[in-house]
Amino acid sequence: RSIIAIVPAAGVGSRMGADKPKQYLMLGQQSILAHTLDALLAHSEIDLVVVALHPEDKYFSKLPQSQHPKLTQVIGGEERADSVLAALDYAQTLNPNAWALVHDAARPCVSHEDITQLIESVHIHPQGAILAAPVRDTMKRSDASGHIVSTVDRALLWHALTPQFFPVSSLRSHLSAALAAHVSITDEASAMEWAGVMPGLVQGRMDNIKVTHPDDLQLAALFMSQK
Ligand code: CTP
Ligand code: MG
Repeated sequence: RSIIAIVPAAGVGSRMGADKPKQYLMLGQQSILAHTLDALLAHSEIDLVVVALHPEDKYFSKLPQSQHPKLTQVIGGEERADSVLAALDYAQTLNPNAWALVHDAARPCVSHEDITQLIESVHIHPQGAILAAPVRDTMKRSDASGHIVSTVDRALLWHALTPQFFPVSSLRSHLSAALAAHVSITDEASAMEWAGVMPGLVQGRMDNIKVTHPDDLQLAALFMSQK
């Protein structure tokens, strides 16, 4: 099986509010994106890493990983799903039978073991699967005015993480159809769900956080230092 990692890295990081896109902020010795790429490039099951970049990106070429033989770049799009789709278009031309392992640039703390676990889950989830973490707090459903309507059964709720692992061809067709139908798509699984596929859930580590707000930087640095 051929596995192509896809890294959406074309965002601007508006919630981080830094002077550059958050994936280029330093975390210890190197940038967030550099850590993320290292985790994927180091994995022997991954044949190629396709990074989707902002059309005006001026930082990527300065990363030491930018010249890696297993790495290639495409231009991303307006939304995360558009960036992923651009990379899938490229992957499809390379090998329509490949599997895509889509992983946010902003998740530098992903562990080697979780990537392996997800890839191996294909035997139980031939339709594809995602890393996810069970929610820990009691979950409430509210009405629009901010009052509690009910308590939601926590046992059935998960945080969707990345990587998310699907066949390139089916993910590409479902994602482009969902985008054309103006469905809100915030991860790959939502496009598959929209098309009637039920992706598997593979329990992953809680420290695989997405760096989103300034607070997350310290947390990610801590998790990184413990790896
Ligand atoms: N992403 C992308 N293309 C976009 C938007 C986002 O490739 N048009 C990427 C980001 O670079 C990030 C991942 O998708 O690695 C997850 O998105 P998010 O955390 O929302 O990052 P940003 O969109 O950059 O941040 P914000 O929403 O705060 O602006
Ligand atoms: Mg965003």
